[in-house]
Amino acid sequence: MLPVVFAALLAGASLQPAGWAKDLTLPEVVDKNPDPHIVEIDLDARIAPVEIAPGIKTDAWTYNGGIPGPLIRVHKGDRLIVHFKNLLPEPTTVHWHGIRLPIQMDGVPDVSQPPVETNGSFTYDFVVPDAGLYWYHPHVMSAAQVGYGLYGALLVDDPDEHVNVPDEIVLVLSDIGIDNRGQLDSPDSGGSTGMAFGREGAYVLVNGRMRPRMIARSGAPMRWRIVNTAKSRFFQIDLDGQKMTRIGGDGGLMTRPVVLDTLIIAPGERADIILAPTLKPGTELEVLSFPFNRGYGSTEYRSVENLITLAIDTEPPLTGWSLTSPSREIAPLSTAGATPVNIEFTLAQRGDGHFEYGINGVPFAKNHPIAASPGETQVWTIKNSTKWSHPFHLHGFFFQVLDDKGQAVQPLEWKDTVNVPLEQTLRVVVKYDDRKGSWMFHCHILDHADGGLMGMVDLGVPHLEHATHGGH
Ligand code: C2O
Ligand code: CU
Repeated sequence: MLPVVFAALLAGASLQPAGWAKDLTLPEVVDKNPDPHIVEIDLDARIAPVEIAPGIKTDAWTYNGGIPGPLIRVHKGDRLIVHFKNLLPEPTTVHWHGIRLPIQMDGVPDVSQPPVETNGSFTYDFVVPDAGLYWYHPHVMSAAQVGYGLYGALLVDDPDEHVNVPDEIVLVLSDIGIDNRGQLDSPDSGGSTGMAFGREGAYVLVNGRMRPRMIARSGAPMRWRIVNTAKSRFFQIDLDGQKMTRIGGDGGLMTRPVVLDTLIIAPGERADIILAPTLKPGTELEVLSFPFNRGYGSTEYRSVENLITLAIDTEPPLTGWSLTSPSREIAPLSTAGATPVNIEFTLAQRGDGHFEYGINGVPFAKNHPIAASPGETQVWTIKNSTKWSHPFHLHGFFFQVLDDKGQAVQPLEWKDTVNVPLEQTLRVVVKYDDRKGSWMFHCHILDHADGGLMGMVDLGVPHLEHATHGGH
């Protein structure tokens, strides 16, 4: 038995039944550039009809006509050129979540570029320095536009990464709100209370479909590259006792794998997991997401969601495979001499009764940027004084999360998004390079970001008399 599996693995041959993930295939885009190190594509944003399940249709906001948008695949170190055209009735931009790119390519309206108006275009052009799963989405009226369907995955492969699992699939988790007339939910539903909570769409989607089917052979490994692109929803994935091995996160592989029973992914985060469910041939396993307690009202009226139906084929279980413990060296960032930065996530009720999030009590439109200089290391202490959890996201840089003793959390990994649980404090360490510019940080519950939970790091930007800044 053993040599057969080894031979298959050496050849990179699939261990899964033919067509095992065909219901989950993401559209890809044509690379128009013959240079093997340049990927050059066309991307547009447009309204298009989508059908998320038989009979459940709506006119969604899409990249290239589908939700999610196309899977963009590049290799580490490649140059990615995206000719983007906006065919939506509103201005938009494309933000490349997690990529360490130059500020001019960061997609933040009025900060890194002007918004792309209707029928306008913009060329994004940057080198992709790090392997991992990233994603793209608008940064104009983000909660509305992402909620309407604008998101897609960007997979950066590293040919030198030795993960001996030939069967890999990118899973884009999201949700969408559609009413019984097939109209998209209003992005303002529930007013400022809806904003304070963070609006979730009633239909949960995996690669744009409700409850797709996947076929697997018992005992055969799969690599799931997961991104949570939902505007507010957390996923808490459970495989009914089957173990998952997480080998990586936002910015590629971790220093060593961890075995999990449950996988929690906050909005904006990614997870790289290996699983090899051992089940009786011919049976089915529902991949479930349990309601996650992200604060007041988040579990009371929620139900368990079925993400994927995993059908085990009738072949005898595969034996003789074991994971080669993929790993990578990451040095902990030194916090000695780091500049302390203290921020607090706050929620206030204004005189007119409206809720408003802020950083240190000041909403984004009025808060002052955090100053930083190239090469500087900062330790951020993020205090969440609100009754809701907030996934903190920093543009353009990775950070490491610190534990209570100020040590980097083990196993080490590079993160760009991390959940700051309700009424708790979290510390992260970040070391800036010389990519000067104004880099955003915000909660990735996009209603919260739009509701004020957003700020800016001015890296190497001369500190003038600081006027209030625009943007969304
Ligand atoms: Cu995915 Cu400003 O974020
Ligand atoms: Cu939040």
